[in-house]
Amino acid sequence: MNIRTIDWKNNKIRIIDQTKLPLRLVYINIDRLEDLWQAIKIMQVRGAPALGAVAGLGMYLGIKDYVCSDWSKFSRKLNAVAKYIGSSRPTARNLFWGIERVLAVALANKEQPISKIKQIMLAEAKLIMHQDMVACRKIGAYGAKLLKDNSRVLTICNAGILASIDYGTALGVIYSAQAQGKNIKVFSSETRPLLQGARLSTWELHKQGIDVTLIADNTAAKLMRDGQIDMVITGADRIAANGDTANKIGTFNLAVLAKYHKIPFYVSAPRSTFDLKIKNKAGIKIEIRKPDEITSILFKKDVAPKKARVFNPVFDVTPHQLISGIITDKGIIRMPYSQNIRETLRKE
Ligand code: MRU
Repeated sequence: MNIRTIDWKNNKIRIIDQTKLPLRLVYINIDRLEDLWQAIKIMQVRGAPALGAVAGLGMYLGIKDYVCSDWSKFSRKLNAVAKYIGSSRPTARNLFWGIERVLAVALANKEQPISKIKQIMLAEAKLIMHQDMVACRKIGAYGAKLLKDNSRVLTICNAGILASIDYGTALGVIYSAQAQGKNIKVFSSETRPLLQGARLSTWELHKQGIDVTLIADNTAAKLMRDGQIDMVITGADRIAANGDTANKIGTFNLAVLAKYHKIPFYVSAPRSTFDLKIKNKAGIKIEIRKPDEITSILFKKDVAPKKARVFNPVFDVTPHQLISGIITDKGIIRMPYSQNIRETLRKE
């Protein structure tokens, strides 16, 4: 399958509308910053690397038609756009990294005419997309070495093509192993409440010709105890300096279960997901989303009393002690994380 989740086409951001999957593959074009904000918020585009890419493009979208000729006015506008995009979702580090990268090139070129700065910003946003494609393939290549022919892998949420530009991190590892001729069996945890595992991972794995079995989230322990899982591989939204990793709610559960059953638990992420300014899990902001994501199945039919009190954190943090390794585009990082993360990320 040759699909691309995010692109810049005809002066617009082109994305796959992930809320329509798996029923329909629909592309939408975004040329207003408010529409991009909304697309991120309602998760038409989602997944940490994908958020980094659209945030970078969004920085350009937010200023491309802004008419002004002096840097200080332009810079105020840039900061306002950055703040606005950053207010969409809090947890994925990549979103802020994408914003910061494009802001930084604008600042570094502030002596240039504004029209030139705009072009430099667009080029940087396109470079982010290109680098994601390269980084995901490197993650795939490093991670595939961990898998043997006929390995059985459990994953959660969607850390695949749809969470990146065109390859993915956790699922990129599977695609890379498949390209090496290995037969990999994947169990995709449905990922309540928004069902990214069921709607997105199962869809794309199936399209890629991978043997995939969808399970309810509460099936993982039984599968592990029955000896059906050789490895857990997940994506990541933000990784602190000590290796504590935020990812989709339920990831921590899987890490605890994997530890109990002595099954390797791997996280996969590009450099842009690391947040070395944050020491440990205490510094990671977890997004809380609306109750109706839990009380009704994808907003259509009530499955709980209307007045039920709901707690809907959509990410959790897996403590680094439970992580066997972090598969990055620079190699696989192992314990002790505080030291090895810094050393590995320093590599060019
Ligand atoms: O709420 P989502 O769907 O944006 O959450 C996505 C995840 O948790 C992914 O596992 C993570 O972003 C890694 S994607 C390579």
